[in-house]
Amino acid sequence: MARITAGIATSHVPAVGAAIDMGRTEEDYWKPMFAGYEFSKTWMKDNNPDVAIIVYNDHASYFGMDIIPTFAMGIAESFAICDEGYGPRPVPVVQGAPELATHLAASLILDDFDMTVLNVLEVDHGLTVPMSLMFGTPDKWPTKVIPLAVNVVMYPQPSGERCLALGKAIRDAVEQFDEDLNVQVWGTGGMSHQIQGARAGLINLPFDRKFMDDLVNQPEVLQYKPHLEYMIEAGSEGVELIMWLVMRGALGDHVDEVYRFNHVPASNTSVGHLILTPKENA
Ligand code: DHB
Ligand code: FE
Repeated sequence: MARITAGIATSHVPAVGAAIDMGRTEEDYWKPMFAGYEFSKTWMKDNNPDVAIIVYNDHASYFGMDIIPTFAMGIAESFAICDEGYGPRPVPVVQGAPELATHLAASLILDDFDMTVLNVLEVDHGLTVPMSLMFGTPDKWPTKVIPLAVNVVMYPQPSGERCLALGKAIRDAVEQFDEDLNVQVWGTGGMSHQIQGARAGLINLPFDRKFMDDLVNQPEVLQYKPHLEYMIEAGSEGVELIMWLVMRGALGDHVDEVYRFNHVPASNTSVGHLILTPKENA
C-alpha cells in the first residue's frame, strides 16, 4: 500500500530561484533565508519520498490567461521547465509518476473533483523553487513528482473547504494504490504578499504565524476563511495559502510539527515553511 508520510509547506518566491541560479545565496540579503532551509535539506536526505505530490499554482506561465483550470494534475513521464521570460531555470527536468498520477486522477474525478488531466505540462517557479529549497542543486532530482496545479491567480478560486477536502481525497486515493510507495504532499505559495498596486510589498507576519498555528492545530476552522480576508489581511497574492490546505488535508486529523521557519522579507514575500508528519495511529 502507498502511504503519505509527510507534508511540506513552503513559499515559492521566484527571486529565491534566481538567487540560487545566479550563485547569490551567500549574500547578506539571502543568507539568513537560505539558512532556514538547511535543516530541511538534511531532513529530506533522510526522508526522501518515492513520489512528491506538489500542489502549486501556475502564474500564467504555461496555462496563460486563455485556459485556467481550477485543479489540474500532471500525469506525464516528465515535465519540462517553463520559460518565464528569462529562459527556463537551469534545473533538471522533473520526472513524473504516471501510474500513481493516473490512479489519483481517476479516483479524484470519481470523487467529484473535476480534475483537468495534463498529458503535457511545463512547470514554473511555483513548483521548481520549492524543489530547489528542499533538494538544493542536484544533477537529477531525487524524487518523482506529481504536479497538482490550483488556480489562485484568477477569481473565482476554489474555496478553502474544497482544498482541504481535496487533500483528504488524495490521502484516500494514495492508500488505495497497491504499490508500496512513500508519498509526500507539498503545499506551496504564500505567505502574505502583494506584488501589485498601491499596497505592493504588504506583509502581515502576525497573520502568517496564526495561519501556521491554525494549519497545524485546527485546519477545519481555517477552511472557512473567505478569499476576501486573505486579500485584506495577507495581500492580493496571500490567497496562494489555500494550497497549503490541500497538503494539510492529506495528513489526517492530527499532525506532529517537525520544523517551522519564518523569514521576512524575500522579494515582496513573507517566507513560511513547515514540515509536518501524520500522528501515529491518528
Ligand atoms: C513573488 C512571490 C510569489 O509567490 C510569486 O509567485 C511572484 C512574486 C514576490 O515576492 O516577488
Ligand atoms: Fe506565487
